[in-house]
Amino acid sequence: MRNPTSSSSLSSFVASSKSQKAERAPVPVVPLSEFGREMQAGLARSPRSISPKFFYDAAGSQLFDRICELPEYYPTRTELRILGECAGEIAEQVGPNAEIVEFGAGSLTKVRLLLDALETPKRYLPIDISGEHLEAAAERLKADYPALVVQPIAADYTMPLVLPAPMAGSGRRVGFFPGSTIGNFEPDEALAFLQLAARMLRGGGLLIGVDLVKAPERLHAAYNDAQGVTAEFNLNLLRRANTELDADFDLDGFAHAAFYNAPRQRIEMHLVSRKAQSVSLNGERFGFEEGETIHTEYSHKFTVDGLRALAVRAGFRPGAVWTDPERLFSVHWLAA
Ligand code: AVJ
Repeated sequence: MRNPTSSSSLSSFVASSKSQKAERAPVPVVPLSEFGREMQAGLARSPRSISPKFFYDAAGSQLFDRICELPEYYPTRTELRILGECAGEIAEQVGPNAEIVEFGAGSLTKVRLLLDALETPKRYLPIDISGEHLEAAAERLKADYPALVVQPIAADYTMPLVLPAPMAGSGRRVGFFPGSTIGNFEPDEALAFLQLAARMLRGGGLLIGVDLVKAPERLHAAYNDAQGVTAEFNLNLLRRANTELDADFDLDGFAHAAFYNAPRQRIEMHLVSRKAQSVSLNGERFGFEEGETIHTEYSHKFTVDGLRALAVRAGFRPGAVWTDPERLFSVHWLAA
């Protein structure tokens, strides 16, 4: 995985070399960033799609933070409330001297709630693809938890990876996967991730936050907020392509579309072309019909029993489940 600094300098080199040799055929001579490669492949296939992991550049991460504050977007605040209120019971499951492995460690607020409740947590291993962001966040955490060993791991947590050996005297190794990020995966990917996690956490467990199925209008509102922040978040993907990949998406030429696909129990997000148009990316042109879409995200919703059944298939033994009184969101203890 390339780090963000080298990929952006790489794409600016592509851009400048192209403008100097404008009369030549636009053959890409420099490898594109991962975002560039996936964007190009995503526009070339039918139906068009791009992974939601590319939402989170600096601007996208800020927009996501704003989403979490929206009145319609209940998942973040509900999960925080569950973690806060059930912290004592969660700590009992985890036990003393635990080693916490966080998958996609964006949100330090959430792990702090956990760390505050645990009995002498020994080590924290946050895994994230954005290495730079991770180092800075880890430094801040170290300062607040001097007794905790903090060891960030810059890696893609959907790939098998070898964790450092347990420290002497450590308790359970516990995975932490909050935010219903599992909902972003396709069902087969979710199973594959849980299988990987079960193997990595053998003898310990996984604490996972999962958004629940509920009235479609409640779900619809959460992804179609009145202030249009979710729309901006979705469209930021095209803005990012324009700045990083020398693309020329007309941001007013695309509309945010999010809807609940009830039979599949998922929110789907798309970017819809408002007109017939063509877009260039890395010297290649892509035509859009009016109404043609780029699929940008799935956000699967689960029932408590559905998630537990999936966990069993992945090799976990489901334990306690905590929810809010409205049963909007759930936090599960899965013994590995
Ligand atoms: C961070 C993936 C859980 O699916 O609800 C929020 C991302 N997308 N609004 C979600 C998101 C649109 C969020 N996850």
